[in-house]
Amino acid sequence: MADKFYFGTNTKMYKTIQDTVDFITGLQDLTADISREEIQLFVIPSYTTQKDANAIKKPDLLMVGAQNMGWEEQGQFTGEISPLMLQECGTDLIMVGHSERRHVLGETDEEENKKVLCALGHDFTTLLCVGETGEEKDYGISEEIIRIQLKKGLFGVKAARTGKLWIAYEPVWAIGVGGKPASKEYAEQIHVVIRETLIELFGPEAGAAIPILYGGSVNPENAVGLSKMDHIDGRFIGRSAWNADNFNGIIRSVLAER
Ligand code: 13P
Repeated sequence: MADKFYFGTNTKMYKTIQDTVDFITGLQDLTADISREEIQLFVIPSYTTQKDANAIKKPDLLMVGAQNMGWEEQGQFTGEISPLMLQECGTDLIMVGHSERRHVLGETDEEENKKVLCALGHDFTTLLCVGETGEEKDYGISEEIIRIQLKKGLFGVKAARTGKLWIAYEPVWAIGVGGKPASKEYAEQIHVVIRETLIELFGPEAGAAIPILYGGSVNPENAVGLSKMDHIDGRFIGRSAWNADNFNGIIRSVLAER
């Protein structure tokens, strides 16, 4: 269990540069009084906003991440963005393997692994997302799928490098419009499997220290209940966090009940 509680949002393919700047400015102002010993706040906006978002971020209040990254520093990879380009923007964090990258854009565990190694190798905080589809859940193989995604996605990562590794459990069937939030009991059960796998991979000390966040239709109604579970270290939110007032409200209601 991590000592801080993690709150982040991925703004997906929404928000222009100006929308993003306004959102981050508002979120920083609204949450400025909350001790950062208690929370770690992060926002993951689109590539085109990275420079401006990083310019206006207050590093002691929040981190800015990118939604994806190419796994080479440069080369013939049309349409990709390299770690050097994101470092140049001041980006703190790289998200790897979001369910929409895997299932809409066809990314594989092998590709996610190259991105994880590259992101950690360039000293980014690296957020690897894992999650089973509804079909895999119906087959009763969720736990196996999660273990495979972790073992392939983290292949070759050394325990000494995991200080900047975070995991998000985002069941595909729970994400986005039409998604159904996981019950807190189900989310907890999978988080236990993730923790066991991280300990198997990295040993009891490093494996126990990696934060594990839950995402997928988190909303003001379910956010508090989820945070009472022992193995859930944070919330990773889409739609319900894209308005700074709403996001601030979720953060405060969770903290009030912890
Ligand atoms: P929703 O909260 O909109 O379901 O999205 C979650 C998500 O995909 C965060 O990365």
